[in-house]
Amino acid sequence: MIKEVKSEAAMKTFGAQIGALLKSRVVIELVGDVGAGKTTLTKGIATGLGVDEDVQSPSFTISRVYSAHDGLTLAHYDFYRLQDAGIMADELNEAVHDLFTVIIIEWGSVVSGVLPTDRLTIQIESPTESSRRLTINSGGPISAAIEGKL
Ligand SMILES: Nc1ncnc2c1ncn2[C@@H]1O[C@H](COP(=O)(O)OP(=O)(O)OP(=O)(O)O)[C@@H](O)[C@H]1O
Ligand SMILES: [Mg+2]
Repeated sequence: MIKEVKSEAAMKTFGAQIGALLKSRVVIELVGDVGAGKTTLTKGIATGLGVDEDVQSPSFTISRVYSAHDGLTLAHYDFYRLQDAGIMADELNEAVHDLFTVIIIEWGSVVSGVLPTDRLTIQIESPTESSRRLTINSGGPISAAIEGKL
């Protein structure tokens, strides 16, 4: 599906709508250039997941973990500029199999071998400075169930 988002606030609202739907494990891959809005969308998803901490870009730490509603954990990864994911690929692989972890990944091509086919992929393009076009695809039943409710 395609979703047009006209402002940063609308991006956060849409993220919160996604986050509120999440009840167990899912992998969400966010694809887009620097400044596309991947972290902004993640902040919204975190709000919808009931995360009360301030979500910051994990560019330097690669991953950040937050507690969310219903015993869920949000694990947010950013592999920007990483040539080799190294041990982080193992950590991600473990998280991907955890039933109660929601995973959001920015710049995930370096870990493409670890990403499950069943993931929600959201590609973000910027037609103008303040508008964004989201192209959302699902690769299996878990992600399709979420996409179907959006
Ligand atoms: N409709 C919109 N949705 C999201 N962000 C927007 C929108 N319009 C403008 N912006 C701005 O675009 C920037 C998006 O930054 P953000 O950190 O979310 O991008 P990113 O994709 O995570 O980049 P990076 O690859 O560097 O991590 C912010 O400065 C935000 O204010
Ligand atoms: Mg980011």
